[in-house]
Amino acid sequence: MRPVIWCGDHAELIDQTALPTKEDWLTCRTPDEMADAIFTMKVRGAPAIGISAAYGIALAALRCSDRSLTGLQRELSRAHQIIQSTRPTAVNLFWALQEMRKIWENAESADGLTQQLIDRACAIAREDEEMCRAMGRHGAELVPPQAKILTHCNAGALATGDYGTALGVIRAAHEQGKLDMVWVDETRPFLQGARLTAWELMQDRIPCRLICDNMAGFLMKQGRIDLAVTGADRITANGHVANKIGTYTVATLCKVHNIPFYVAAPYSTIDPKLHDGNDIVIEERHPDELTTLAGKRIAPEGVSVYNPAFDVTPPELITAIITERGVFRPPYAQTLAQAFN
Ligand code: MRU
Repeated sequence: MRPVIWCGDHAELIDQTALPTKEDWLTCRTPDEMADAIFTMKVRGAPAIGISAAYGIALAALRCSDRSLTGLQRELSRAHQIIQSTRPTAVNLFWALQEMRKIWENAESADGLTQQLIDRACAIAREDEEMCRAMGRHGAELVPPQAKILTHCNAGALATGDYGTALGVIRAAHEQGKLDMVWVDETRPFLQGARLTAWELMQDRIPCRLICDNMAGFLMKQGRIDLAVTGADRITANGHVANKIGTYTVATLCKVHNIPFYVAAPYSTIDPKLHDGNDIVIEERHPDELTTLAGKRIAPEGVSVYNPAFDVTPPELITAIITERGVFRPPYAQTLAQAFN
């Protein structure tokens, strides 16, 4: 299932804030509508954000009334600014915008520019799906028979071009008959696990069971988790991984219980310029995500709230990083550099 689809002159996306109770598809005709969909998390997940950003730029070119090269470039620059200010942590957003920018900055004429931008955006989506399938194949080799796998957040088809990163590994293991079941962390506060991962796995009839985030340690102690796999929003050159808040807790618990902790992500998630996990910008979201549940207030009015949407897991807690180019083990500063330079 593809969360964002290009429909010739507009994009359609499944509203992930309505899932699992409703399957609503939204139409985005302008870059501003696309930016709003990303900001409000109707589309979310690092690779899907990147794909949507690229489509947003294609929409800017399509809708621009000034068809001169400078007119188009002015509008594309405006769209770039708006879209890049939606969410700060997932590097795929900036990577995809840069891919698009290279095209319109280097254009010598307006002729054919819009079509080139549409083609590149569609290619980014297609390549992402191919990368997920390759990641799945590499990752499945790490999965033992009858595996019970824990995952956090949603790093599935909904978060990518299709198939998923962490869920890509799980899907491939399932296709190979190696999977017993998936433990799905509910993923407070936005509940991507409970709402999206559980829905996605059930659509594909992949056996899964939902738990609260604070149950994972108990299950590990009971020997009911063989490995954990998550996605990533940004990976530094030396293997610090920003991902959904709570990932660091899962990785720490895995270390204590001697359980492999894997991260699955495409190369566009690696930020070669960054070396220190502390330099990753962590998005803070609205307090309502914590103080309300399904629109109902659950905390005292006026309570002070801290709501970081991501955390950073250090390389020493990560058994391996699975990419479309293979499986990389520590020391990541060296292994990732060899693979990506
Ligand atoms: O805030 P979200 O839902 O966009 O966060 C998503 C995650 O943290 C995912 O694990 C990550 O983007 C990888 S998706 C393949």
